Amino acid sequence: MIGRMGKFRALFLLGSLALILSGCGKENLTALVPKGYGSEASMNLIILTTVVMSFVFLAVIIPLVIVLLRFREKKGQEDFIPKQVEGNQTLETVWTVIPIILVIIMAVPTVIATFDLADTSEASEHININVTGNQYWWHFDYEDDGVQTSQDLYIPAGERVYLNMIAADVTHSFWVPTISGKLDVNPENVNTLYIEAYEEGVYWGKCAEFCGPSHSLMDFKVIVVSPEEYEQWLADMGNVNPDEVPGDAVAAEGKELFEEKSCMGCHAIGDSPGQVGPNLTNFGNRTTIAGILDPTKENLVDWIMDPESIKPGNLMTGKYPDLSDDEADKIAEYLLQLKETDVTPESAGN
Ligand code: CUA
Repeated sequence: MIGRMGKFRALFLLGSLALILSGCGKENLTALVPKGYGSEASMNLIILTTVVMSFVFLAVIIPLVIVLLRFREKKGQEDFIPKQVEGNQTLETVWTVIPIILVIIMAVPTVIATFDLADTSEASEHININVTGNQYWWHFDYEDDGVQTSQDLYIPAGERVYLNMIAADVTHSFWVPTISGKLDVNPENVNTLYIEAYEEGVYWGKCAEFCGPSHSLMDFKVIVVSPEEYEQWLADMGNVNPDEVPGDAVAAEGKELFEEKSCMGCHAIGDSPGQVGPNLTNFGNRTTIAGILDPTKENLVDWIMDPESIKPGNLMTGKYPDLSDDEADKIAEYLLQLKETDVTPESAGN
């Protein structure tokens, strides 16, 4: 019976391990390969804590195994009671003091890192971006440069960027594991997080606070480009004319439908007025549709026709008149042609 229980336990442990490890491996969605200031600070603490706790583990397990093997009851020893050591002052002092020292070794760097990462006193000397968390997408407002976008956050490599974050509805949490730690995004106050990415690339972001039925789908990307490309991107994005009619005839019809079917009431392009839904400037260069789908026309048509089946609880469902497949197709064609700049995720080295 005990043997069977042991087997179940081993299976359970192995199963759990497989489950945990299956979370690893997605490129640029791991805190274990840090490529930014905050994630590096976290990783250093993870290593320190793991080393200290491994020492504790070995310091307990090795003597335990030795004692179990060496002092087993032998034949003829059934009534033997070994010398009792309870109340031994030296031993008790030692195993009280050592853990206190170990906790201090872990606590001091943790507290220093925590205060360092929370220090926003130099924010005015760096790039500031206003971030708004919404069910279930992210709005990015480069206020100083008059640029707005959503879902893909462009930042320059090697520079500190301050994110002033607030939520439009419920509490979310901003997390780009490879670059930074996470910070709550609350409806009632602005929280500031600074991030600094060391290398160009496309990094996955997640909402890390349960915020509704599509919480797990509230993904975004941080696109890290060179400082020169960043300046170019800002200039191109600040120069968008929302009234520009695409040269392609189908896309031009799509633009008309976009206005006619009241898409524009919620979705801004450039600085046009819609502010309720994601700003769609430069939509043709986005890494995803709705944060989770590959940016193909087929996926975009599916999203427009039935967003509820893709992101349950999203606010777009039911907010516009029924569209025919042909109309959705034209709108998709228009949106996918909104490419305002040559600075794209591909140019970010991915
Ligand atoms: Cu937003 Cu979870």
